[in-house]
Amino acid sequence: MRSRAHALAAGFAATALTLSPIALPAWGQGAAPAGDGAAIYNSAGCSGCHGANGEGGLGPSFPGNANLADAAIVASQIINGGGEMPGFGDTLDDAAIAAVATYIRGTWGNTFPPVTAEEVAAARAASAPAAPAAPAP
Ligand code: HEC
Repeated sequence: MRSRAHALAAGFAATALTLSPIALPAWGQGAAPAGDGAAIYNSAGCSGCHGANGEGGLGPSFPGNANLADAAIVASQIINGGGEMPGFGDTLDDAAIAAVATYIRGTWGNTFPPVTAEEVAAARAASAPAAPAAPAP
């Protein structure tokens, strides 16, 4: 009995392992493949202001853009926007922001490393409104 249960458990574990790439998209796990970022870049509207090939327009161009070097600043810009750029913190989750940040930092000749969802979460926390100051005594 015990060995049969064990075999069943092992079989279940093997099945779960087989299915996990479907249940948990890889780009929810940290570093995102550039392909997802490319799709988000177009569907979220980044391409409308920054150009389909990052060539710029209303927003700055991305190839060779040294401002992309700091992952936290890039994440914060996408979360909060700035200037004429709207923030995407409410419409894109951390993994999606990581994916699109990874895409613009690693495409068109750019070679900055991937951005993780954890880095985006940290940027979100850093830019959250500060707690109200304690009343003066
Ligand atoms: C409505 C137009 C618009 C859209 C849509 C838009 N941006 Fe921007 N973006 C801008 C503008 C304008 C700036 C410059 C902001 C400033 O001067 O503060 C900017 C700046 C940036 C920067 C900083 C670049 C630098 O050189 O400082 C990044 C990174 C960025 N955008 C990424 C994105 C991503 C990723 C998306 C899509 C999720 C996106 N933007 C969507 C207009 C846009």
